[in-house]
Order: sequence, then C-alpha cells, then structure tokens
Amino acid sequence: TTAPTSPFQLTEEHLAVRDAARDFAQELWAGVIERDEHQKFPTEQIKKMGELGFMGMMVSPEYGGSGLDTMSYVLAMEEISKVDASCSVIMSVNNSLVCWGLEKYGTEEQKQKYLPRLCSGEIVGAFALSEPEAGSDATSQQTTAEDKGDYYLLNGTKNWITNGTTASVYLVIAQTHPELKSRGINVLIVDKDMPGFQQGPKENKLGIRGSDTCSLLFNDVQVPKENRIGADGFGFKFAMQVLAGGRIGIAAQALGIASGSLELSIKYAKERKAFGVPIAQHQAIQFKLADMATNVEAARLLCLKAAADKDNNADYAKSGAMAKLFASKTAMDAAVEAVQIHGGYGFVKEYHVERFMRDAKITQIYEGTSEIQKIVISREILK
Ligand code: CAA
Ligand code: FAD
Repeated sequence: TTAPTSPFQLTEEHLAVRDAARDFAQELWAGVIERDEHQKFPTEQIKKMGELGFMGMMVSPEYGGSGLDTMSYVLAMEEISKVDASCSVIMSVNNSLVCWGLEKYGTEEQKQKYLPRLCSGEIVGAFALSEPEAGSDATSQQTTAEDKGDYYLLNGTKNWITNGTTASVYLVIAQTHPELKSRGINVLIVDKDMPGFQQGPKENKLGIRGSDTCSLLFNDVQVPKENRIGADGFGFKFAMQVLAGGRIGIAAQALGIASGSLELSIKYAKERKAFGVPIAQHQAIQFKLADMATNVEAARLLCLKAAADKDNNADYAKSGAMAKLFASKTAMDAAVEAVQIHGGYGFVKEYHVERFMRDAKITQIYEGTSEIQKIVISREILK
C-alpha cells in the first residue's frame, strides 16, 4: 500500500480500513448496473457489509460495532462510493444517523435492543425527519406525537425516507408541544410492525436507484414512552446533532463519486485513441483531469478535516457543512466531465460514468441542500 501524504494523521489502522473497503468494493461492480436499472436493493451486499463491520463502524464493540473513528468511516465511505453510491447511502444512514444517534443519546436498554443487529447487517435503520411540507424548513414538523401517559400517539406523513421499505427500525421526529416550536419536538423509535404504521411505494428516482426511498404513514400508532430518545423536547436537537455528523458521511459519499469519476476517466483517457494518440495526450483532456484531481484532493482534505474535528471533540457543524458543500459540487462537476471524457461511451450504462452523474446530484440535495449548508456555514462565521 502506498500511504497518501496528508496533513492528517492516517495510522496503519486507517490505511488497513481503507484497503479493506477498497478490496470489498470491487465485489460491488458485479450487478451494479442491474441494481440501478431495476431499483434492486443490494440485500446480499449489505449483509456482507455488516459482516465486514461497515454497518456500525463507529459503534463500540460492546454493542457489536467496529469501534473505529470518523476518519476510518470517511475512508471507507469514499471507497464504497467509488463503485456504488446506493450501497454507501444505506451505509451512511445506518452508521451516522441511526447507530450514532442511538449510541450517543439512547438508554442502555435501547442500545442493547437495537445496536447489535444494526451493526451486524441483520437489520437496517432509517431516519425520518423530512415531510411533504417540511424539508429544508425542518422545524415545521406536522407529524404529531401526542403524549398519552404511557405512550405517544403518532400521526402524520414522512417523505423521502432512505431505507424506507427495508428498514426494521425507524427514528421518527414528531411534534409533541407545538407551542414550544422546535423545543417541543421528540424523536421516537418506531418498529416496522407497529399497528398503524405503513410504508408508501418506492419512489422512481434519477439516481441512487439501488437504495429504496419512500414515504411513511402513521395512523394512530401507539409508541411506548420508553421508545423516546432523550428528554421530552430533545428531538430537534437530536436531529441537528446526528445530521452534523451525517453530513460528513454524505460529503465522503460525494468524494467517492468524484474520485471514482476521476479514476475511470484517467484509465479511459490512456486507452482511447483519437487523432493517432491516446486522448490523454490532448491538452484539453489533461486540463479536465488536472481540475478534477485538484478538486478531489481539496474535497478529501475537507472531509478528513471535518472527521478529525469530530474525532477530536472540536465543533464540526461548520467543517462538516463545508465538506458536504464542496464535495457535492465536486462530485457533480467531476461526473459531468467524466461523461465528456468518455464521449459517446460515457452516455451508455456499461461505462458507469452516466450512473455517477445521476448519483452525484442527490449529494447536493439530501442531508441539507447546498443552500442549507451555506446557511449553516454563514451563521457560524457571523456568530
Ligand atoms: N446542534 C444542536 N442544536 C442545533 C444545531 C446543531 N448543529 N443546529 C440548530 N440547533 C438548534 C438551535 O440551537 C435551536 O435550538 P434553541 O431554540 O434551543 O436554541 C433549534 O435547533 C432550531 O434551530 P434554528 O433556530 O437555527 O432553526 P431554523 O428553523 O433556522 O433551521 C436549519 C435551521 C439549519 C435550516 C435546519 O432546519 C436544517 O438543518 N434544515 C435542513 C434539514 C435537513 O438537513 N434534512 C435532512 C433530512 S435526513 C436526510 O436527508 C437523509 C438522507 O437523505 C440520506
Ligand atoms: P425544499 O426545502 O422545498 O427546497 C426547495 C429548494 O429551495 C431547494 O433548492 C432549497 O435549497 C431551497 N431553499 C429552501 N429554503 C431555503 C432558504 N431558506 N434559503 C435558500 N434556499 C432555500 N429525509 C429524511 O428525513 N430522511 C431520509 O432518509 C431522506 N432521504 C432522502 C433520500 C432521497 C433520495 C431524497 C430525494 C431525499 C431524502 N430526504 C430524506 C429528504 C431531503 O433531506 C430533503 O429533500 C431536503 O432536505 C430538501 O427538502 P425539500 O425536498 O422539501 O426541498
């Protein structure tokens, strides 16, 4: 292995995790086009990722996790996203939004009950904040969790939920005390088979088509009080805290799409001949590759910076938002250029870069759009 030079302290363990993810990711090429075309959930692949420790990377071994740091998580997310961003979004939601939130804020009983199975890949989790009328404006929650003494009565609709039809456990954000606005919101653990809980049909998406996204409908679902995470009214802060870390994961996903686009483009440019020479000898192609490589490197440094901030208990809301903002734009730009470098071949599925271009777009939308990242960053720098 050649260690990349980096201002960040990448240990032997980090490089071993990166190499293990890189080796495993090669298995994801098989069937990736078919999974994308038919919106087929990567069931077997996710099981294997659980067995290899990629589904609960940052969870303590006490609860079945790999006990690794955020740097390791970023390195693994990049490698898996280089091949299949559908697998990596399933991984990202499970790791950063569900497992991290449960381990950090859950009760001992909640952790024992859910974490080992979430880490092993036996089950996957989902995180449900967005609603038809509350996306970026996330405090405008219309879903209600009425306090009924022993239980909450949950009613409402969630939209665009990743792992929506395949998850077994859902962290659902809902309003209990509307008069308290964001301070009246709770987060509840909802099991798939609770009466009154229904999943909508799979959305037919532009990209990350192997991951399943759907709406969730709650009709008088009785959720026991012990399924609340944290104190009464902690739900919105919970959502913001898990998303601050989640954005580092999505930034790494975007980085992987960008670096995957670059790698395929370098390989193709050396092979494809036009006007008697490999196209890599035309300066117009060289300059595209130079721009892509520079942006990929900058995105990687921002991702590692945000991960290092989180691992060192420094504030990471701003650095995570910066990493996501920059890496998602890099992913989009690099994937578009990769298609251009591949010419007509880039426009068909066999060469993968058209899928990268479709997958890249979502990284500028979910876990807070690019405009929302700019709001988070500007609020921090203007404090
Ligand atoms: N940590 C802790 N608390 C935080 C916080 C953070 N990082 N950010 C905000 N808060 C708190 C605030 O302090 C405030 O609490 P107090 O009133 O007690 O001070 C409360 O949250 C409300 O904050 P704001 O007043 O700043 O609320 P706002 O209405 O201005 O909105 C926002 C802030 C940043 C725009 C927020 O609504 C937001 O992040 N929107 C985007 C939503 C989003 O990212 N959704 C992603 C869904 S999950 C997903 O997409 C998964 C996937 O695809 C794979
Ligand atoms: P809107 O909030 O309606 O935004 C529309 C446009 O207006 C955007 O360009 C936005 O940036 C802009 N805008 C809005 N407010 C402002 C402002 N104040 N200033 C400037 N511009 C603004 N959510 C979950 O909870 N869990 C999930 O697992 C999940 N997975 C998803 C998977 C997919 C494939 C998709 C498509 C979405 C997913 N989401 C999930 C939802 C996602 O987080 C939201 O789509 C996103 O936060 C944007 O919300 P919205 O779609 O309602 O857009």
